[in-house]
Amino acid sequence: MRHFLDLSDAGPDGVAAMLADAIDRKAARAGWPKGKPDSDAPLAGRVLAMVFEKNSTRTRVSFDMAIRQLGGTSIVMDASSMQLGRGEPIADTARVLSGYCDAIMIRTDDHQKVIDMAQYASVPVINGLTDASHPCQIMADLLTIIESDRALPGLKVAWLGDGNNVLASIMEAAGLMHFDVVAACPQGFQPSEADVARGKGRAHVVASAREAAEGADVIVTDTWISMGQAHAETKLAAMMPYQVDEALMALAKPGAAFLHCLPAHRGEEVVDAVIDGPQSLIWQEAENRLHAQKSVLRWCFGQIG
Ligand code: CP
Ligand code: NVA
Repeated sequence: MRHFLDLSDAGPDGVAAMLADAIDRKAARAGWPKGKPDSDAPLAGRVLAMVFEKNSTRTRVSFDMAIRQLGGTSIVMDASSMQLGRGEPIADTARVLSGYCDAIMIRTDDHQKVIDMAQYASVPVINGLTDASHPCQIMADLLTIIESDRALPGLKVAWLGDGNNVLASIMEAAGLMHFDVVAACPQGFQPSEADVARGKGRAHVVASAREAAEGADVIVTDTWISMGQAHAETKLAAMMPYQVDEALMALAKPGAAFLHCLPAHRGEEVVDAVIDGPQSLIWQEAENRLHAQKSVLRWCFGQIG
């Protein structure tokens, strides 16, 4: 049974195999209507259950399209309209959904919930974001970086802003795929030591935005207020020196890529000129959620890696 709760579940070989598969499959169906299944329909007859305890646009639609393109179908549920929302345990939900469906994707708050879902499910479970990590997003980010003709080993990736779930998965990816992450975060909003340790010596935290951005191949940021967090003016003020603007991009290598998982808050973590500028790869990055997750699904079913 393969669960994809974090990138380390797949390990470096699994991640590399998924990225290679995503590149091949994306090329093989270039220009096709989005709803047309891939010619080999490798997950024909499979049903993906999706449970959302938090809002989503990209994760929801890209997983739905991913399973369709692989020949399967999906059932999408908001937890608030399930018995889960009235207190039915995750463990019971896991066992019930396993009787109807072939895989479960869940987006939730407490990471322990995805661990519990995996423990009690008898089908693969995929983490569609928790407060602790967002591995599916980073699969798409790695795919986007590779497509930009950058090899992962030895890259310098700069993270600016909040020490959040997305950063935790980037740091884990750095340790697995041998690139460096320098995260510039204000005091009080830095990643935990445990998250930094996931980078296996490749993840570093600094206070200076300039130090992170200098010589970077890729600049990444995310919202300053994640889902479930209170909107705090004090946090926004602490984050302002970490805003990604043109001056910060100018410190990076010429032509450095800009990534953002979206949704973005223009004028907060990034200015319009950067996110809508020539170095921004955000639309490709968003589309790549679809292509990367098709390979995550195939990995979960033991078809690759
Ligand atoms: N990036 C991302 O996970 O987007 P959604 O919240 O829209 O799914
Ligand atoms: N850090 C953000 C990512 C959203 C895709 C959040 O958790 O809300």
